[in-house]
Amino acid sequence: MKRRNFLKLGTTFALVPLLGQAGTKSSVKPFSQKLPIPRLASYRMKNGVKIFDLKIQEGEKQFFKGVDTDTYGVNADYLGETIRVHDGDRVRINVQNDLDEMTTLHWHGLKVSGTSDGGPHSTIPKGTTWQADMTIGQHASTCWYHPHTKGQTGRQVFMGMAGLFIIDDPASTRLPLPDHYGVNDIPLVIQDRRFYADGQFMYKQGMHDTMMGVTGDTRLVNGMIDPYVEVDPEQVRFRILNGSNARIYNLMLDGGYLFHQIASDSSLLPEPVALKNFMLAPGERAEIVMDFSQHPGKTFYLGDGLDQKRLLKIVVRDRKPIRTTLPEKLVKIEDYAHAKVAKRRQFTLNMAMGYLGINEKQMQMDRIDEVVKKDTFEIWEIWNPSPRPHPFHVHGTGFKVLSRDGKTPLINETGLKDTVLVYSREKVEILVVFRHLAPAERPYMYHCHILEHEDAGMMGQFVVEA
Ligand code: C2O
Ligand code: CU
Ligand code: CU
Repeated sequence: MKRRNFLKLGTTFALVPLLGQAGTKSSVKPFSQKLPIPRLASYRMKNGVKIFDLKIQEGEKQFFKGVDTDTYGVNADYLGETIRVHDGDRVRINVQNDLDEMTTLHWHGLKVSGTSDGGPHSTIPKGTTWQADMTIGQHASTCWYHPHTKGQTGRQVFMGMAGLFIIDDPASTRLPLPDHYGVNDIPLVIQDRRFYADGQFMYKQGMHDTMMGVTGDTRLVNGMIDPYVEVDPEQVRFRILNGSNARIYNLMLDGGYLFHQIASDSSLLPEPVALKNFMLAPGERAEIVMDFSQHPGKTFYLGDGLDQKRLLKIVVRDRKPIRTTLPEKLVKIEDYAHAKVAKRRQFTLNMAMGYLGINEKQMQMDRIDEVVKKDTFEIWEIWNPSPRPHPFHVHGTGFKVLSRDGKTPLINETGLKDTVLVYSREKVEILVVFRHLAPAERPYMYHCHILEHEDAGMMGQFVVEA
């Protein structure tokens, strides 16, 4: 689908009431269960290093009343705890694999070396522990983690392996933004799932699912179907991750209310952007602020315009409103402004009958596709001649979207990103730079973040050299 068609859909149906979940096994009344908030992962300090222990484990969860679904999770039955660190922190993460299969854990959005990035080469055989060491050095942002296992990423994510990785920095902590985790700074991991009649996840069934990506008729927010959240009549920030394997959302409030986007994948935006809806593709994040101070006692629904489905009920408590305003300026992204571009590279996303690749190649673990120099700005052109949109993701960097089809990018693409949705027959230019090394044994990846596409070969590897 072309970008204009997506946008057209987005603006027309805001007035049409969004429907609830149809035809699910849920015997629970829709929007009657409280939104779960992923716990913050605890850490211990040792020699100035924050040490986190993550255990990847099998679990069981009742998405439907009385039905146990087999799941994977990270320090939890389904999804994972939220890691929260500050710019400049020295961090060690011990990742213990208690599954009955091999896996990996990738820090999506983190600017760390290839050795710590957790790509498909950093395998964690079952029963073993992998250790990732890093020093956080990047803008405040909502990142996340998920497996990156060769050919198995889609299935392992579908089982529940994913969690948030929030980074704070001095600028973001100084700004008067809602930041009370779980109270007025609320993480939302949006996913869709397909289930068998017996309540187990129904993952990929064949070539059709590979080409289309696996989508489901049931939506989950933080691992729950049709949840509600209670907030005070004040400004509330939502950190939204599209953690779906393949589904793209056009997020909006039922009734077409305005809100502000304040951050994209990899940084705050230079200034808040007023929106009624925005697209969020798999792998992308957005932080938005909704001002409920005029609406004590009212109810809102966050929904998906593409599919006319409600996702989350927001109940505003009937209390005395707290009125605050958003800062006019949020962040300055200095280094990209004066970038000297040393090189251009082209990436063509290939999708043909039963074939998914990039530049006419499919991912091969023992082939390095690109060699990049550290601290050097490059323009990458991503061209999508295929009939469907693909979210293109690059490891080890935050990039600026320079243009879409030669025109200025969207108004909410002015910050740093690490995943960009490239619509059908569109060419997107991004400005990238890498601040860490990635050796040939632990290269970085670029790929489509539709996980079935990635697993089928729409991915390439690159090294970053000094
Ligand atoms: Cu979110 Cu290569 O991954
Ligand atoms: Cu990544
Ligand atoms: Cu794709």
